[in-house]
Amino acid sequence: MENQDSDSRLDCCSSFISNISVQVVSAPGKLPGRRPPRKPISRAKPKKQLNKKAPFWNVQNKIILFTVFLFILAVTAWTLLWLYIRETESRDAFYFAGMFRITNIEFLPEYRQKESREFLSVARTVQQVINLVYTTSAFSRFYRQSVVADVSSNNKGGLLVHFWLVFVMPHAKGHVFCEDCVAAILKDSIQTSVVNRTSVGKLQGLAVDMDSVVLNAGLRSDYSSTIGSDKGCSRDFYADHLSLRYPLEVSTTSGRLTCHFKLVATAGHLIRFSVESVQIEADNCVTDSLTIYDSLLPIRSTVLYRICEPARTLKSFVSTNNLMLVTFKSPQAWRLSGIRAYFEVIPEQKCENTVLVKEITGFEGKISSPYYPSYYPPKCKCTWKFQSPLSTLGIALKFHNYSITKKSVRGCDHGWWEINEHMYCGSYMDHQTIFRVPSSLVHIQLQCSSRLSDKPLLVEYGSYNISQPCPVGSFRCSSGFCVPLAQRCDGVNDCFDESDELFCGTLQPACNASSFRRHSALTCDGFPDCEDGRDERDCTRGIPCNNRTFKCGNDVCIRKQNAKCDGNVDCPDGSDEEGCSCSSSSPTLHRIIGGTDTREGGWPWQVSLHFVGSAYCGASVISREWLLSAAHCFHGSRLSDPTPWTAHLGMYVQGSAKFVSPVRRIVVHEYYNSQTFDYDIALLQLRVAWPEALKQLIQPICIPPAGQKVHSGEKCWVTGWGRRHEADNKGSPVLQQAEVELIDQTLCVSTYGIITSRMLCAGVMSGKKDACRGDSGGPLSCRRKSDGKWILTGIVSWGHGCGRPNFPGVYTRVSNFVPWIHKYVPSLL
Ligand code: ARG
Repeated sequence: MENQDSDSRLDCCSSFISNISVQVVSAPGKLPGRRPPRKPISRAKPKKQLNKKAPFWNVQNKIILFTVFLFILAVTAWTLLWLYIRETESRDAFYFAGMFRITNIEFLPEYRQKESREFLSVARTVQQVINLVYTTSAFSRFYRQSVVADVSSNNKGGLLVHFWLVFVMPHAKGHVFCEDCVAAILKDSIQTSVVNRTSVGKLQGLAVDMDSVVLNAGLRSDYSSTIGSDKGCSRDFYADHLSLRYPLEVSTTSGRLTCHFKLVATAGHLIRFSVESVQIEADNCVTDSLTIYDSLLPIRSTVLYRICEPARTLKSFVSTNNLMLVTFKSPQAWRLSGIRAYFEVIPEQKCENTVLVKEITGFEGKISSPYYPSYYPPKCKCTWKFQSPLSTLGIALKFHNYSITKKSVRGCDHGWWEINEHMYCGSYMDHQTIFRVPSSLVHIQLQCSSRLSDKPLLVEYGSYNISQPCPVGSFRCSSGFCVPLAQRCDGVNDCFDESDELFCGTLQPACNASSFRRHSALTCDGFPDCEDGRDERDCTRGIPCNNRTFKCGNDVCIRKQNAKCDGNVDCPDGSDEEGCSCSSSSPTLHRIIGGTDTREGGWPWQVSLHFVGSAYCGASVISREWLLSAAHCFHGSRLSDPTPWTAHLGMYVQGSAKFVSPVRRIVVHEYYNSQTFDYDIALLQLRVAWPEALKQLIQPICIPPAGQKVHSGEKCWVTGWGRRHEADNKGSPVLQQAEVELIDQTLCVSTYGIITSRMLCAGVMSGKKDACRGDSGGPLSCRRKSDGKWILTGIVSWGHGCGRPNFPGVYTRVSNFVPWIHKYVPSLL
């Protein structure tokens, strides 16, 4: 548990209910403290003339002086002892934040005032009850105190009490205090009755709703900020007016900023918090964060959303109760840090609808997730009933940037759907998909399944002809779209998922004016494939370029001025941008399953990623401070935290890296799907860039040009310290390499079924040469014939077993993510 202190000493704020704004004045120096009142200057009294001078060191004076000395000594010793005890206690202290609902006490408006008699009385009662629970528990030795932080109304009635618990475990030294045990002690003390069949039970004299109990370990800094000793720029806001926007702004240009904003609406309503812009240091919320809680204390399991990087687009979040906590932390701001936001009080909405769909008119209406366009809250549920006018017409659903697939045994990360009694899981993606239900009566239920608030969903609906989902002359993509047959097998991905380009034997050029495409594989290949020669018309094959133009790899001349290494792909084949982002020379190739030991220094971009000190995944160096790896290496709350990760560069034998850096930031692709491994890509920023002096041993690999096509049969290399046999239980100590072949996408789809256009397959169909567990995130490196440069064509992602015949390895197709990589690593341009 972290015990970092946060004594935010920023003077802030003015707050008033119709226009709340928190202005933070940064004060690098100390704020002027209140001076003690000056003593009145007394006029000097004439000293009395002593007639007789008694000796100063008489016995009486000596006794007095000795007593005073002893007293001062005792006070100093006691103060030092007290300070020492306090210091060690707070170092060994563990804080827990929690809440529960008391059903047998009604809310009084006075509870909002923390100094009121009413608040103090109810707080005392609750504290006594909690004290009794823990002083009679197995943890009584460690228990110190409970502090009630808030007593509020809520949408279920009764009182919602938020509290802190403090435990002290002497000499804890890095030990963690069992969070589940602390929560279990409280829950087990609530006596529920099986007969009543309600979740409300007795906790001493209090009627407590068992389902409302939440308790998590918290930070000491949060304890200080919310309890009052160190409030910083924290504020409580009570908003009662519907349809009013309450602005909330805070910023600083230097120093420390830690604010807790408690937002409370009248019971029966919800809070909608909208963030217009956030300025923070991007580091996965390790230091800087904007966190929105569905409670009034920073209780981890009530987090609705966390923003960990600067943002300028409007995002809004809705609470599940009439309260919300927003915390903003920027402990070492050195340039502008802050948020611009506002909140509103909104009514609760029901998410259900019955729709009578018209006879085929295309997509005629929309349904959406609750509180659209806000992020939808984690505990939502929607039901929709659709009825089409004819039994021959089914219901078509067009999901925006979302797709649903049959639910497997695993749970759903982003909403589960029940459609006419069939279960599906939802996932986000970068295009629309169409789902058709061949029934005139469709019953849909959506349950939000993510732990956090999730991105808003928009679904268009309409009817369609069950017997002919796609009109004559069109092809049905696997994403559900219908595209004109002429667009099939034209070399261009019209379906979003490339299903129009799969299973295309020989490419047929589309030569009429409307469907002719310059970038099709058949243009400028030296052969007039179109009758009118249109495909070869703008080509400069064989003709030398003049000195103001640059010759692309496919023989086209483009103006030099906007050619080589300007960040834009100007040549149709991207050859003007090739080799711009990585070291130009390839290492001399002296250089897993069926692999061999590599030669030291043979793969200078290969990285081993260690999680809590053990090798866990691979990665590739793409610049001085960025690595590229697989998203699945960082799935889950523990793995997505950069703190336990270290990157080992320039390494041959495990544990003997030439350079090791902690990881500062992990950027997982926002559409990564843990069920299908789609969008399995992540960027890692090193805390320390590798030094120039190591450039003989550490070198970046080139990123392929955007959309680069790969050729099946091409030979590439997979490298890593992963297992050498499927049945092994540990990885290889020496870096392994295996030569694999790029496999035709159609063949791979027929093997695995679920191969998206973000994936590619490589291996040998006879098996034996493959990546395996522990190689994930590592490179699939292909050497480009034209200039001998090494290109990061793939990232080790998944496979059925390891090295099994007919089951090649599946890799993330890097050429599909070039703009995404550039968004975070513009220096590659
Ligand atoms: N996901 C695996 C890992 O954690 C990589 C599996 C690759 N499997 C394969 N057969 N190519 O390292």
